Amino acid sequence: MYQSKIAGMGYYVPKNIYSNDDLTRFMDTSDEWIQERTGIKERRFADRTEETTTTMAIEAAEIAISRAGVTAQDIDFIVFATLSPDYYFPGCGVLLQREMGMREIGALDVRNQCSGFIYALSVADQFIKTGTYKNILVVGSEKHSFAMDFQTRSRNVSVIFGDGAGAVVLQPTQDNHSGILSTHLHSDGADAEILAMYYPGAHANKWLKNKPSFPDQELGGLFLTSEQLESGAALPYMDGPAVFKKAIVKFPEVIREALASNNLSEKDIDLLIPHQANLRISQYVQKLLGLRDDQVFNNIQKYGNTTAASVPIALCEAWESGKIHTGDLVCLAAFGSGFTWASALIRW
Ligand code: UT7
Repeated sequence: MYQSKIAGMGYYVPKNIYSNDDLTRFMDTSDEWIQERTGIKERRFADRTEETTTTMAIEAAEIAISRAGVTAQDIDFIVFATLSPDYYFPGCGVLLQREMGMREIGALDVRNQCSGFIYALSVADQFIKTGTYKNILVVGSEKHSFAMDFQTRSRNVSVIFGDGAGAVVLQPTQDNHSGILSTHLHSDGADAEILAMYYPGAHANKWLKNKPSFPDQELGGLFLTSEQLESGAALPYMDGPAVFKKAIVKFPEVIREALASNNLSEKDIDLLIPHQANLRISQYVQKLLGLRDDQVFNNIQKYGNTTAASVPIALCEAWESGKIHTGDLVCLAAFGSGFTWASALIRW
């Protein structure tokens, strides 16, 4: 069995910066509310027409691939995590493969929202461990801005999320003491609907069956109707307080699980990189685990919550700013829609 190591990483955030004050031009909100409840000061929004989830992923991937000392032709598998794909199908993995001129390699799309990157990393880790592949590109990328509703009715969602992408290249290493020590994945679908976007979706007929517009026919239906668009049924829905309560339980649980399975404890963590959901969640988890400020990395202040991109962006930014050293124990952890939650423990 091989061990996987992160051989290169990169991130990309769009140029357009929107401060909290900028958002007050579109909805009834305030810098004070957003900073106090989430810690966010500003976020990046992709160019509306020129940038997509795939183009941002390519920017991040090019940096990761070059830092790994390989070329796009050397990549032998892609795992792409996003909840904001360019198309309903096919997924962004094949678009990235095409645009980067890669060989006819496998491309897998992961739909695990905020935990998506750690799920993707875990899948890649298994392929490296078994010796199946030697250079796997793992990506998390999101263009939330295109699907968010910048009106007061959706302000609890639209002030939180931002756009961006992060990528890593995983390679095998013979050194059994470094690299990905373990990954831990969980889900509980009991509350799947409290952080979700229901439409377009295959259960649209259920929503429509008592509406006058429902087609009177034996088969088929409507994928997305103007009624759904107007009523806001095709917008992301989040019961923020309920998600918050669950997150502050599952984050520490999955971090402790990772530590225990490697016979380590909280004091061994050099850097915890939590999914950037809310600064208050990160601070709560930090306190509960008894970690110092320098043991936890946060950049939600600058980018908001970038869902599947948040962990790789934070990991790469932490590394670029010299916060990760050889031998360090780095813990990645995430929680989000599904619910799904996950962690990865890495010896650098
Ligand atoms: O990464 C995916 C996982 N997602 C999360 O982890 C999100 C977890 N949840 C949260 O981060 C927080 O629940 C939020 C930041 C979403 C909301 O913070 P909160 O402290 O839970 O506020 P709330 O939803 O209970 O709303 C409090 C008040 C409400 O007004 P009333 O009913 O008390 O009059 C909201 O209407 O704040 C109002 N409100 C806003 N006011 C100004 C909600 N959004 C805004 C806004 N600006 N953007």
